[in-house]
Amino acid sequence: MVPRICSCVLVITMSIFVVAAVISLNLDETIEDVTNYDRVFTEVPRYTRHIPSVLTEITGPLSRSKRQIADSEYIRSDLVYSRMRVLHLMMKYLIGPNGPEIEIRHFVNWDKTILIDNLFYVRPTTIQQVQRIIRVAAMMHMRVRATGKGHSRSPLYPDEGNIMMDVRDLTRFDGPRIELMRPSSERNYLTVKVMTGVYLYELNAFLVKNGVTVMAEPLENNDTIGGMVSVSTHGSSWNGTGFGDNIVEVRLIDSLGRLRRFVREKHTELFKALTCGLGMFGIMYDITIKVVPTKVVKVENQIVPLGSLIYNSTKFGETVSSNLATEISWYPFNSVNDTEAQNYINSGNIPADWSARKDYLWLRTVNEVDDINPSLIQGPNFLPTGGSLSGSNVTGLLRGKAALDLARSLAPVTYHYLPDAFALLKPPRFGSETSTAFMVTVDTEYKRPLAALQFIIEFAERQIRENGTTPVNALLPRLVMNSDCHICPANSNIQPVNSTGRSMVIDFLAPPLQDGYYDISRKFVYKFRGDLVRPHWAKRYDNIPGVMDIIRDVYGEGIHKFMKSREDYRLDPCDLFMNKFLQQIFGDSKICY
Ligand SMILES: Cc1cc2nc3c(=O)[nH]c(=O)nc-3n(C[C@H](O)[C@H](O)[C@H](O)COP(=O)(O)OP(=O)(O)OC[C@H]3O[C@@H](n4cnc5c(N)ncnc54)[C@H](O)[C@@H]3O)c2cc1C
Ligand SMILES: *[C@@H]1O[C@H](CO)[C@@H](O)[C@H](O)[C@H]1NC(C)=O
Ligand SMILES: *[C@@H]1O[C@H](CO)[C@@H](O)[C@H](O)[C@H]1NC(C)=O
Ligand SMILES: *[C@@H]1O[C@H](CO)[C@@H](O)[C@H](O)[C@H]1NC(C)=O
Ligand SMILES: *[C@@H]1O[C@H](CO)[C@@H](O)[C@H](O)[C@H]1NC(C)=O
Ligand SMILES: *[C@@H]1O[C@H](CO)[C@@H](O)[C@H](O)[C@H]1NC(C)=O
Ligand SMILES: *[C@@H]1O[C@H](CO)[C@@H](O)[C@H](O)[C@H]1NC(C)=O
Ligand SMILES: *[C@@H]1O[C@H](CO)[C@@H](O)[C@H](O)[C@H]1NC(C)=O
Repeated sequence: MVPRICSCVLVITMSIFVVAAVISLNLDETIEDVTNYDRVFTEVPRYTRHIPSVLTEITGPLSRSKRQIADSEYIRSDLVYSRMRVLHLMMKYLIGPNGPEIEIRHFVNWDKTILIDNLFYVRPTTIQQVQRIIRVAAMMHMRVRATGKGHSRSPLYPDEGNIMMDVRDLTRFDGPRIELMRPSSERNYLTVKVMTGVYLYELNAFLVKNGVTVMAEPLENNDTIGGMVSVSTHGSSWNGTGFGDNIVEVRLIDSLGRLRRFVREKHTELFKALTCGLGMFGIMYDITIKVVPTKVVKVENQIVPLGSLIYNSTKFGETVSSNLATEISWYPFNSVNDTEAQNYINSGNIPADWSARKDYLWLRTVNEVDDINPSLIQGPNFLPTGGSLSGSNVTGLLRGKAALDLARSLAPVTYHYLPDAFALLKPPRFGSETSTAFMVTVDTEYKRPLAALQFIIEFAERQIRENGTTPVNALLPRLVMNSDCHICPANSNIQPVNSTGRSMVIDFLAPPLQDGYYDISRKFVYKFRGDLVRPHWAKRYDNIPGVMDIIRDVYGEGIHKFMKSREDYRLDPCDLFMNKFLQQIFGDSKICY
């Protein structure tokens, strides 16, 4: 059969290639002088043009649910695997005995919607190992993508047959994994230097212990810092920007394996790209974050009628702009009483007078307090679901009621240090749940965010009434302050009329195959396209036909500036850090030589 012949030919070609490669490979990795960050690269560096590898013509796109596809898919995938085994031998040889282990692995992301049949997985511990892998990859015409915890739901991962570099075990060569940096001649404020593979929960514990805080708070503390910076992970604060906007320094390893150091004050344009870089600027090693003294905050849980907030723009505006953070959650069909719920279980009947407006919202607000007895201050705030936010262990339409009951069971008031104040999710106990999130710019009359929320709510209401199913299990609108970062979704360069300088994230969750889920995302995007709606990079959107055009149209010049920074600093001239999905959006680099 074809694969057998291929393998023989491959082994021979590869052997010749190995000899050539070993001769040209510089075996001593060196750490560049990191203080010399103004160095201009005047010499023509030896870039390796990304020419097709022995895998290129047979690998599929980074896609979802491959296993559901026809027999030909198994044959193709097996062929890729047999070629990878040959490449694997070579790679091990080139990486050498002191290099990290490299394995062929199957990959599944957190929400189980991205399956990659086979990739090369490597988990370096030192900077020299990172450099070595990058050089070997370049030589073998393969691509490398960094990963943290794999919590992203979009195709940000390496293409099949390429290299996944897990950065979580990387240690710092010149200091600890997390370090408090006192004000210096370079900057007159406190910062924290942290390796990108550190989890947010480790960083938060460090911040609390050292009496400092940052102002970006996702609903999850098990993401890595590198992952959060790369996709502009956001919180829910009127005055809080994306996580990446807080960084002031980055050290990264570029596609030639050089360690490069960049600081915000000097490399202002580059920082507008690095603060949401999608892994396209190299392997980020550590980052330095600006911190401020600890805040103690009061968290209040309230249950309020949906109609009173989402259909009253005055009340909505007052609420989201007056609290330090505001988290709003709707779980559909939650206002039915026990009799109605039992009746629904018996007959499937939706009560005649149920409407979404009568449902309740869980409204969670976070505000600073002054004098508080330290014994009242609690640690991180996990949700009492023991799993997913939406539904606990109840399935079907009544999960909304169960989720609201859990919110009702929370203490009405708790106190925390700011990093611990945010409601934290754990993986769903049953099945998987994915998330789609889009942003619109908030206008001074709150017309845009409310129209967007009402669209989702009314769409769900219609489906519940007509079909007894819901397209979403949870709707979690959140606020973010815009920044000048080129491709951040909360973006001050996207200026529809009457902007407040904030964006609203319309985040909705459901198991990926739930009835109506794809439909609602697609219709939502096309309905609000004129309002310049754009996706959260790490969530689910690539299933929407035409979404690439929508993304390019929304960011316009931002995309060109983003790519230009990458080119100006010669970080990845030959697209070593790309994948096919990102190439569709951003195109190929024009400066490979
Ligand atoms: C339960 C849950 C709750 C969430 N809540 C929120 C929320 O409240 N707000 C929000 O905005 N998002 C939220 N997210 C999304 C999440 O913040 C992002 O997906 C984040 O990227 C996850 O971090 P990770 O470590 O899993 O990164 P990964 O998914 O592994 O990687 C994400 C991207 O970062 C790049 N990357 C990672 N490390 C490096 C590095 N060292 N150098 C270069 N590139 C790197 C990768 O190449 C990839 O492109 C949530 C996700 C989940 C699963
Ligand atoms: C992070 O996730 C892992 C599973 O991947 C889990 O074992 C661990 O308890 C989580 N930690 C926190 C603090 O959530
Ligand atoms: C809307 O909210 C405002 C501010 O809270 C309130 O004064 C007003 O009565 C509300 N309008 C309606 C129709 O409930
Ligand atoms: C946001 O910042 C502005 C300016 O510093 C301040 O006046 C306002 O009170 C802040 N709002 C919130 C909700 O924190
Ligand atoms: C539940 O709601 C119905 C109206 O749909 C009402 O007749 C009934 O009394 C309510 N039952 C309880 C227990 O509140
Ligand atoms: C579901 O969870 C509730 C409380 O969280 C618990 O009392 C109940 O026993 C659970 N039911 C099942 C079937 O696990
Ligand atoms: C209800 O289901 C039918 C059949 O699947 C579908 O055609 C219809 O569009 C659905 N209605 C709503 C409001 O989702
Ligand atoms: C912008 O704001 C003004 C004044 O508040 C208002 O009259 C106008 O209708 C708004 N425009 C849009 C498109 O919302």
